Amino acid sequence: MKIIGTGHALPKLVVTNDMLAEFLDTSDEWIRTRTGIQERRLLSDETLDQIAEQAMKNALDDAGISAKDLDFIICSNVANNMVTPGFGCLLQGRIGATCPTIDINCACTGFIYALNMANAFFKAYDYKNILIVCAEQPSRYCNWKERDTSILFADGAAAVVVNNSENNMLGFHLNNECDIEPLYYCRRLEPTPFNKVEEANHPLKMQGKAVYKIAIQSSTNDIIQVLKKTNIKIEDVDYFVLHQANERIIKSICRNLGQPIEKFPMNIAHLGNTSSASVPILLDVLCKENTFKEGDIIVFSAFGGGFTTGACIYKW
Ligand code: ACO
Repeated sequence: MKIIGTGHALPKLVVTNDMLAEFLDTSDEWIRTRTGIQERRLLSDETLDQIAEQAMKNALDDAGISAKDLDFIICSNVANNMVTPGFGCLLQGRIGATCPTIDINCACTGFIYALNMANAFFKAYDYKNILIVCAEQPSRYCNWKERDTSILFADGAAAVVVNNSENNMLGFHLNNECDIEPLYYCRRLEPTPFNKVEEANHPLKMQGKAVYKIAIQSSTNDIIQVLKKTNIKIEDVDYFVLHQANERIIKSICRNLGQPIEKFPMNIAHLGNTSSASVPILLDVLCKENTFKEGDIIVFSAFGGGFTTGACIYKW
């Protein structure tokens, strides 16, 4: 599997910490020091499908192929207005693709799981090109009356086109442990004359400290495991492209791994936590800055509700 094109798109509204402090009991100083976030992009008069469509078109342009050349689309999304059909079906229509499309919801780890699926698809079928799109709008399921989650999350979309020309994906370590309480969002479904079970309906609930610990432990462990599996020395890794959830989390993982912070690119200061879109957005930015040179070893790693966690190693 080889990454042949990347693209991303963001909402145009920039929301600073001071703007949040106008209606939440918080401050720029608190948010910066606890999370590293200075500002984020939030959907206002655009919709998630619009920015996702743009991200997909950007990735296709970058890859130099058209939607008709796609053999499969994997769409990672936690929540959108349409419960059925899947979000990927809608996005497929927007770019004029006709290939099979599947939705996955692995929370913030969606991009790593999607890469894993694409890699397996290439081994199982004669697919040539697969497009992965990660489109997220956590702003629409945070509680905007509370300061705990709304300051962290942001909206965005990114897409990556992979093909079967080379075998640059060196290995994966995925992990999933059922632990709902620290991070979940639930919606009540339509009532029926027969359903007697009381259901909850509330925005994202998060136990920040628990998530913080799980995130650091799981990401550190996933990275160590995938290095072991692939027999790659940590010193030989050029970049760790990690889920952008909190600058302190990334710095702790960096310390645990004993690696220089320069190997851990970050854009959380300006984009916040865009869930599964965070790793491919950062990847696209790094590609456009020509950060990677041929042969560079790159680790991708993310964690999210579930808890789903995972890491993989890619040779540029
Ligand atoms: N502004 C001001 N004060 C706040 C805010 C806020 N936005 N939020 C909490 N506080 C207060 C608390 O009430 C508490 O006050 P107290 O001491 O009087 O009780 C104090 O600040 C400290 O709160 P803590 O929760 O202990 O703060 P902590 O240092 O743990 O940081 C944070 C909180 C930033 C949420 C941290 O726990 C964290 O980053 N956790 C991980 C969150 C995360 O990454 N979630 C998503 C990951 S998975 C995914 O991406 C889907």
